[in-house]
Amino acid sequence: MSTARDKIREKLFPVEVTDVQHYTDRLFTLRTTRPGTFRFEAGEFTMLGLDTGQEVIQRAYSMTNATYDEELSFLSIKVQDGAFTSRLQYVEAGQELLVGKKPTGTLTIDAVAPGRNLYLFSTGTGIAPFMSLIQEPEIYNRYERIVLNHTCRLQAELVYDQYLRAGIHEHPLVGEEAAAQLLYYPTVTREDYYRTGRVTGHLEDGSLWGELGLDKLDPEQDRAMVCGGPDMLETLVDELKSRGFDPGDRGEAGGYAIEKAFVG
Ligand SMILES: Cc1cc2nc3c(=O)[nH]c(=O)nc-3n(C[C@H](O)[C@H](O)[C@H](O)COP(=O)(O)OP(=O)(O)OC[C@H]3O[C@@H](n4cnc5c(N)ncnc54)[C@H](O)[C@@H]3O)c2cc1C
Ligand SMILES: NC(=O)c1ccc[n+]([C@@H]2O[C@H](COP(=O)([O-])OP(=O)(O)OC[C@H]3O[C@@H](n4cnc5c(N)ncnc54)[C@H](OP(=O)(O)O)[C@@H]3O)[C@@H](O)[C@H]2O)c1
Repeated sequence: MSTARDKIREKLFPVEVTDVQHYTDRLFTLRTTRPGTFRFEAGEFTMLGLDTGQEVIQRAYSMTNATYDEELSFLSIKVQDGAFTSRLQYVEAGQELLVGKKPTGTLTIDAVAPGRNLYLFSTGTGIAPFMSLIQEPEIYNRYERIVLNHTCRLQAELVYDQYLRAGIHEHPLVGEEAAAQLLYYPTVTREDYYRTGRVTGHLEDGSLWGELGLDKLDPEQDRAMVCGGPDMLETLVDELKSRGFDPGDRGEAGGYAIEKAFVG
């Protein structure tokens, strides 16, 4: 007789953890094998599951890898009393994880119309879907510049900093395009850094585009995607709407698209 646990497992692929890297007491990355039939669009998320033997616990996770990579990768928070990540943070290479068979999401390339500059606004683990998007060759055809903003409380939480400054320029498929078109804009809010404060302040005073040598943000030409905590999402959406941006969704391209990086 099949149990509730078996039924949940039917919707998930078993994968094997191949690598785990810890960055801070709150953040780590994971790599896993990729099932041959697992397909997704850049920017999507799926369920990541852990089978405790008694039950399967699962949570939504964005893939950070490119759609064409051989392995899957994820960026994860560690919530000490969280049912999922209090366990997930202890996984090691060789262990089994489960991956949802039906990835979905609203931060896909077709959710926003082509345009001049694409602004990707993220806080914390909200950068995850954008790591996949910026490895998609198509994004560099659709926009002149891609501005990737990552706002974190602490500098150590800018986990892709080195990759975004240099590593991606060596990427065999999009390295040249990224070097010419991708502009990284980190900011740190709770300690000293060369750029501090919430991105909203940098939007208000125009330093976001000013520092990057771009023309002023323009809803007619520019597009945006937002991924972060509930509070940040609300603030950014209000800000974009007040500047004349219209929402888009997959299937109906608009001026901006959003996804919750976690439920508050
Ligand atoms: C569409 C979507 C995509 C997501 N993608 C990712 C991802 O790529 N990486 C990731 O780490 N999480 C992601 N999450 C959050 C993830 O699903 C879980 O919430 C997270 O794994 C924590 O699970 P938990 O059971 O340990 O704690 P939960 O009980 O789920 O959460 C407890 C509390 O911890 C905080 N929290 C949860 N997740 C985060 C987070 N990511 N960053 C900061 N605070 C958080 C919130 O305050 C939440 O109320 C995503 C959520 C959604 C809805
Ligand atoms: N126990 C710990 O040590 C610890 C540490 C960090 C977080 N947490 C908890 O973990 C959860 C998520 O933390 P997180 O750091 O990933 O996410 P977060 O609290 O949402 O903050 C991430 C970044 O987004 C900024 N931000 C928050 N709201 C914003 C808004 N409305 N507009 C623009 N920027 C905004 C923050 O700036 P500000 O710094 O200005 O808020 C911070 O730089 C929270 O519930 C938090 O209480 C715990």
